[in-house]
Amino acid sequence: MLSHISRMLTGIEIHPAARIGRRLVIDHGDGVVIGETAEIGDDVLMYHQVTLGGTSLAGGKRHPTIGDKVILGAGAKILGPIVVGEGARVGANAVVLSDVPPGQTVVGIPARPVDRKPAGADVLPYGTPCDEALDPGVRALEALRTELAELRARLAALEAERRRAPAGDD
Ligand SMILES: CC(C)(COP(=O)(O)OP(=O)(O)OC[C@H]1O[C@@H](n2cnc3c(N)ncnc32)[C@H](O)[C@@H]1OP(=O)(O)O)[C@@H](O)C(=O)NCCC(=O)NCCS
Repeated sequence: MLSHISRMLTGIEIHPAARIGRRLVIDHGDGVVIGETAEIGDDVLMYHQVTLGGTSLAGGKRHPTIGDKVILGAGAKILGPIVVGEGARVGANAVVLSDVPPGQTVVGIPARPVDRKPAGADVLPYGTPCDEALDPGVRALEALRTELAELRARLAALEAERRRAPAGDD
């Protein structure tokens, strides 16, 4: 009853038996369907029209398992008892029919991997780094921080090399 009432109020249908982790965010909400045997980890972000659906009426596990920190773009359909690994990103309107490795970005129908690694913060609004939204000063500082880290790594490597070199090699 609670599930039906909240569906009427929000347009989000969550089967009462679905297992949901902590801090799930459903942005916009309308049209989301989360099936009976779906499992969702912690810190998952999903947008409107996402379906965690089944592909058969057979008993047992028939809905997906979504890992921690996964981002599911608007309209994404994740179908069957598949696993979307931790930190993966599913593009808007993708249809995912097989497992997605941790950290992988997938797009399209059927979903295919793209070579993008999510960078920066743990939770990315819209699934993208959104660099342009950052203050230019913050961006400049980030660039300097990255360069400093690279220089430190190179210095450490040079010092290690120098220590390893036989005496008198200078
Ligand atoms: C999948 C996603 C996370 C990738 O973001 P990204 O890391 O910035 O990657 P890019 O935009 O550089 O795209 C990488 C490739 O995937 C393609 N692509 C990106 N999103 C796609 C999508 N939803 N469907 C099909 N192809 C997509 C791009 O065209 C690009 O292809 P190319 O390598 O052939 O040029 C992002 O595009 C996305 O769909 N986010 C969800 C946003 C959303 O739902 N917003 C709703 C807010 S209300």
